[in-house]
Formats: sequence, C-alpha cells, structure tokens
Amino acid sequence: MSKLAILGGTPTRTEPYPDWPVHDERDVAAVTAVVRSGHWGGYPYPGPQTAEFARRFAEMQGGGHAVMMANGTVTMEVALRAADVGWGDEVIVPAYTFQATAAAPMAAGAIPVIVDIDPQTYCLDPQAVEAAITPRTRALVPVHLGAQMADMDVLMEIAERHNLIVVEDCAHAHGAKWRGRGAGTLGHFGSFSLQSSKILTTGEGGVLLCRPPELAARAASIIDCGRPHDVAGPHAEIESYDRSGLTFTMGANYRMTELQAALGNVALERFPEQARQREEMAGYLEESLSEIPGVRLLKRDPRHTTRSFYRYIFAIQPEVFGAGHEVVCAALSAEGIPCWSGYEAMHHYELFQPGLSRLPVPSAFPEKFDFSKMDLPESERACQREAMWLDECVFRAGRQGVDDTVAAVAKVQAHAAELAEWERKLRDK
Ligand SMILES: Cc1ncc(COP(=O)(O)O)c(C=O)c1O
Repeated sequence: MSKLAILGGTPTRTEPYPDWPVHDERDVAAVTAVVRSGHWGGYPYPGPQTAEFARRFAEMQGGGHAVMMANGTVTMEVALRAADVGWGDEVIVPAYTFQATAAAPMAAGAIPVIVDIDPQTYCLDPQAVEAAITPRTRALVPVHLGAQMADMDVLMEIAERHNLIVVEDCAHAHGAKWRGRGAGTLGHFGSFSLQSSKILTTGEGGVLLCRPPELAARAASIIDCGRPHDVAGPHAEIESYDRSGLTFTMGANYRMTELQAALGNVALERFPEQARQREEMAGYLEESLSEIPGVRLLKRDPRHTTRSFYRYIFAIQPEVFGAGHEVVCAALSAEGIPCWSGYEAMHHYELFQPGLSRLPVPSAFPEKFDFSKMDLPESERACQREAMWLDECVFRAGRQGVDDTVAAVAKVQAHAAELAEWERKLRDK
C-alpha cells in the first residue's frame, strides 16, 4: 500500500484539475464591445446586456421574472424586502449554509431562525421548519446545497398552510430541476449567486427570479434606488422606469453592470455542455465512490430530476476513516484532489450570537437568540465530522479525473490507522 502523500508519499494525482472560470476570446470580445459602447454600468436599469441576460436566464430556469443584481446576498435581502418581510419578523434558515443565507434576513431587519437539516440531503429539514414556526414567522429560505435540492414539495405545502414567503437560495443550483421545474421557480423567489466560484459566473453578480410579477417590479425598484418599475409580458424583462409620476420606494443601487451581464451572456452559451458533462461524470463517480468503506452518498431523490453540481458533497463515517473530515480532507488535498470540509454551522457564528457579538438581544424574542439552548445535531455532525465537499472541477477532467478522485479516497481510507494517529496528535497539541 503506497504511503499517504501528506506523510511524504507520491500523490495520487499530480496533474492539476482544470481551472475555473473557463474563458476564451468570446469573453474578451463581449467585454470589449461593452467598453467601446460606453455603457458600462447598470443605469438606466436594465441595460441591453442585462435585459438579454435576464431573459435568457429566466428561460433557462424555466420561469419567473429575473431581476439582476450585484451579488447573491442582496438578492435574498431584496426578495424579503419586496415581500414586506422586515423588522421583527422571523425568517427560517438552515444551520448548514453559507453565512449569507442568515445575514440577508438581518439586512432586511428580520431575525434569522436557525434550524436543523435532514441528514439524508443536508438541506433544510421540513419537520424542523414546522417546529420552528411561530406567529412571527414570515418566510423560509431553503438552500439547495452542493448538488442537492431541499424537499420543495413539503416545504411549499408548509409555506402555503402558514402563509409564508419562500425564497429558494439557489446559489449552488443553476440549471437544477425538481419534478422538471427549475430551481428558483418553485418558491415565490429564487436567488442565484454569480460569484466567481459558481457554476455560472460573472465574477460577482446575482439573479433574483420572482414568480409574482408585482414582486418583481418591487424588487426592481428596490435595487434601482427606489425608482418605479413595471413588468410586461410572460418571462419578461423589467421595463425601465417612467419619469412621469415618480414615486420612490426605499431602495439603493444594487444593480448588475453591463460588463457583468456581457460575461453572463457568454457563460450561458457554455453552460449546457458543462452541466451535461458534470452530470455524466458525477454519475460515474457515484458508481465507484459508494463502494469505498465508510463513504455514505447523500440521497438521490427521484423528484430531483436534473441535478447541477457546484460541489459534490458526500459523508464519511469517521470511525471507518480513522478521523474526522478535516484530517481526511487534508490527506485528500495532498493526494491532489480539490476538496473541502465545508461550512461552519450558522449558530456557531459570532455574528448571530448576541452574547459574543455586539448585537443587542432583542427584548421581544430573546429565546430566538439563545444558541446555548439550540440542539441541531445533524448540522453539528455534518459540519464537525462528516461532510466532504469535492470541487466541481473533478467532473471536468474526463473519466481519469474521476478515477483519480476515487482512487485517492480509497487510498486515504485504507490508511485509517495513520489518520487516527495523526488526529490524536493534532488534538493533543
Ligand atoms: C449558499 C449560498 N448562498 C448565498 C451566497 C451568496 O452569494 P454572493 O457571494 O454572490 O453574495 C453564497 C455564496 O457563496 C452561497 O454559497
């Protein structure tokens, strides 16, 4: 058995995986054309590149009115504000996500209520949602994490029964479908990040898909310094504002720029083939990854009809690998496989803990901020010991790229005794 690379052995893979983002002369030409046009920014909203990107993006996801923004955090804040969710309202978010999901409700003035995940999918647990609903609950933000989707059937049923707004956080779910319907078109809103690591990127950027047209018009006003906007037609572009009868709403400049949108229009051309390739190679990965002792694949829900792969998350049994995911990831990275142990749970962030940060404890609802009383065992397990995140580039290096990943995971597992020793040393330090 060859020595672990992290202990001085030869890495399983020495060839780097392909870079992201992919770019070529089409991007250069698109940006050059915008530079030459002199129309660089986002005003008046939407510019021609932005309007085209909005139309094509909504078409790709299969519905909604797209409002184009600076990133995939303000998209969620704006969605909540457009739906009048704000001061003192409660917004349910999963503990296992990027901080933006919990920070966006705070930016809208609401309280993020952090609940546990389903261990089979690592997405929002509908039972935990139901248990967290109070008369102050106004919205849910399910996150479609990695390559998974939250159970939108049950979550929408709960939301309808309690009259809640649903903002799907689709930062990882471009192109994904649930029962043939696009992620982000099932809830009232779908929020997409186009930040540089995302599988559809404009460097920075965000798209908010809005199902109700009147909420799309409100969202467009909020991101355009409060100027009035309207929506016309099915799928339709947001029309620029009418200068007569100016009624301003509370807003700011959260607009996407024309330079970003031009990159987005080129990225959309490449996206279908990249998505197809990732899906094919992920299927190939699963055939052999599942054979490795101590590996647990997350659930493949048949209702999740098209999967998209931002990160491929699987779980390890630490007792079979000899160590938790931090050590396993370090060993796998040394083998030449890009991987990560994933997010910290939201209730560990100082920002969301008034006792540790400078946030005042709201006297009205102190119990929502008492993280010491929270019991989120599934999020704890995923965040602290189990979850392994493979980078999407693993799926863009052909079968060899996948074979190397599987071989490296198997090699690392076969050295469980050394990993256990190493983790013990780390703990004793
Ligand atoms: C789950 C999730 N939500 C929201 C965001 C925020 O997106 P952005 O960085 O575009 O603000 C991210 C970005 O990494 C994310 O991973």
